[in-house]
Amino acid sequence: MFQPRSIAIIGASKKPGKIGHDILKNLIDYGYSGRIYPVNPNIDEIYGLKSYPSILSIPDEVDVAIIAIPAEKVLSVAEECGIKGVKILVVITSGFSEVGNVDAEANLVKIAKKYGMRILGPNIFGYVYTPSKLNATFGPREVLGGNIAFITQSGALGIALMGWTIMEEIGLSSIVSLGNMSDIDMIELSEYFAEDPNTKVIAMYLEGLKPGSGKDFVERMRRVVLKKTVIVIKAGRSERGALAVASHTGSLAGSDMLYDVAFKQAGVIRAYGIEELFDYSRAFATQPLPQGEETIIITNGGGAGVMATDAAEENGIKLLNPSDSLREAFRKTMPWFGSSKNPIDLTGQAVVENYVEALEIAYESPEVKNIILLYCRTSVLDPLELAKAIVDVKNRYRDVSKPILVSMIGGIDVKEASKYLNRNNIPTYPIPERAVKSLAKLIEYYRFLKKHKLESLTRVA
Ligand code: ACO
Repeated sequence: MFQPRSIAIIGASKKPGKIGHDILKNLIDYGYSGRIYPVNPNIDEIYGLKSYPSILSIPDEVDVAIIAIPAEKVLSVAEECGIKGVKILVVITSGFSEVGNVDAEANLVKIAKKYGMRILGPNIFGYVYTPSKLNATFGPREVLGGNIAFITQSGALGIALMGWTIMEEIGLSSIVSLGNMSDIDMIELSEYFAEDPNTKVIAMYLEGLKPGSGKDFVERMRRVVLKKTVIVIKAGRSERGALAVASHTGSLAGSDMLYDVAFKQAGVIRAYGIEELFDYSRAFATQPLPQGEETIIITNGGGAGVMATDAAEENGIKLLNPSDSLREAFRKTMPWFGSSKNPIDLTGQAVVENYVEALEIAYESPEVKNIILLYCRTSVLDPLELAKAIVDVKNRYRDVSKPILVSMIGGIDVKEASKYLNRNNIPTYPIPERAVKSLAKLIEYYRFLKKHKLESLTRVA
């Protein structure tokens, strides 16, 4: 599915704006280098590619068949795909179990089973795998490469978020639309991404599991979580939201409390909104895992430091009480009216050198396990200069496994600097609370790994 040698598009159309056209165009323009076979009995050629009247007339093996024709025609075409020896059916078409057409979906699965094919969908917008330059969706084209795999049960939201990740410069290894999950589901995909060297974080929009698969979810996802971080938004938390889920993807939203327990048991990180999903993903995608809990806050603004302190307390982050010698070291980086307690307040007159020195001390001190760096826009310190200096220090300490998360506060004035930091793999947020909450999730994952890896070691012993 992710590294196919050839892809057929059944329902490839010459008409821009039709789904069968747009998927083909994305596939070509995004740079997929395997063989592409349009299938449509009404056309001979499209974008310089020969079109075939049916999948059976293609004189080559076909690994993946993308189906974008009306529902009533899908079953007979699936049968032909089986005869052809296709391995994966990517069924874009809507009109199956999500509208009560349960029998048609069951028959589709039956056909696939008979021929040993796997199904993604139906009722999906397709999938992307950036290492293969494969964009088989009718969503945005210029998906940025990176190490986050995004699995989504919602189609339209998934497409919208594809565009959002481009705007926010969040790099993805993959995007997979799950739709009705007649066969391939989020657990199996997560297991794939757990082994995928191009993926570090699995981010998921989830509405519900298949009925009866809760235990399976916990057991199998826990094994995934020991290898890769999994972050999930579970939608349909409210009573009315759960009803909306039932009519959207036909999944059972279930009791939110049960999901919460299942996520905790599996070590899955829960996000409560899109912003959190990608905030946490960015942190996990770029930062090493914490080696402990003690966190230091470095700031040039007292208020920002206090906000971060509150957020740290509320999110269970242990703020370091620096030893006398460490406080003495920090003292030298600030004027006499600064503070060397935690938060380390370099004061509003801080310049780049003060931050650099404080950061070096934090990286070198074995007392400090995690760093939150805050900057409030002042006229004495150019944010871009500071951003460059932070990247430089971080690169010099690249072998030190210490997460650093930054908040640049100042709106439009800090936009370029924030972008620069994010592009250089330092997760940067517009307000302190978002940086702190993201660090809290890194620590939550650290605790889970510590507990479970140690447990399994004891068991082996
Ligand atoms: N083999 C090959 N090509 C065929 C076949 C066949 N057996 N039958 C028809 N075709 C051709 C058609 O001639 C047409 O080509 P043309 O434009 O050259 O005439 C093309 O395939 C498509 O067929 P249409 O009948 O025009 O179907 P249309 O494109 O209108 O709709 C679709 C097909 C898009 C799959 C539709 O049925 C559908 O399910 N739409 C919803 C898809 C969707 O939203 N999925 C969920 C995404 S998630 C979200 O919420 C955004």
